[in-house]
Amino acid sequence: MRAAISLLVLLLSVCGVQTESHGTDASTQLDVSTELKELRDMLVELRADNVAVKQRLAASESKVEALEADNVAVKQRLAVSEAENVAVKQRLAASEDKVEALENEIKAAPKVAFSAALKEYGHGFTHSGSNDLNLVFKRVITNVGEAYSNTTGFFTAPVRGVYYFRFPVMDYLTSRWMVIKMYKNGEKLVWLGEYDTDRKASYLSSGLALQLDKGDTVNMVLPKGIEAGYRLWDNIRWSYSTFSGFLLFPL
Ligand SMILES: *[C@@H]1O[C@H](CO)[C@@H](O)[C@H](O)[C@H]1NC(C)=O
Repeated sequence: MRAAISLLVLLLSVCGVQTESHGTDASTQLDVSTELKELRDMLVELRADNVAVKQRLAASESKVEALEADNVAVKQRLAVSEAENVAVKQRLAASEDKVEALENEIKAAPKVAFSAALKEYGHGFTHSGSNDLNLVFKRVITNVGEAYSNTTGFFTAPVRGVYYFRFPVMDYLTSRWMVIKMYKNGEKLVWLGEYDTDRKASYLSSGLALQLDKGDTVNMVLPKGIEAGYRLWDNIRWSYSTFSGFLLFPL
């Protein structure tokens, strides 16, 4: 623009020189040709400038185009990311809810396990006599959930579920029998017996998984026998005769 104005001024001044110079002398003609030469040089320069400007403009335009395309792509990717983020947040929230529900379920799940040994103190035999003896394993080793009573010897299911019970018991058999029974709700489930003569320790031992309803009971019985009946041995140091049970899972 500046170059175009200079060109116009030059052209006007050349015209002015021509109209005023009727009396032509050599110095005026020289001025005109010098100015024309300058004008030509300026034109050449302007054309070159113009080409360079156009090239730079074209380069800038293609850069702008590329940037615009990039911008569109970035915006699309951003939109995709935002949608993914929303989906991930929803899944996280769902997982957190599930974890919380599981934690509550674990906290609320009943915890039941007991082990008790026959003798509360010292050592000695426990005899049945001429009546069935409901065995009371007096010395509590474990009683989580308090479902076993060391005053009645009964286990009472606090919830419906599957439970496992075990009852290893011992006697010194000097040509005699040892016998033990397990009851559920007053009905005999197990009868175990053994005869031995060696005066050394003999054991009866068994276990059952039982499906119980809430309130069902399990207990051990030493059956009646002739004279002093059957018997078991225990001492508080070694827990020879014990009764254990635990909830495997609620139903
Ligand atoms: C019997 O059970 C009660 C109540 O759980 C307990 O406090 C007591 O220590 C138990 N007795 C023995 C000898 O374990």
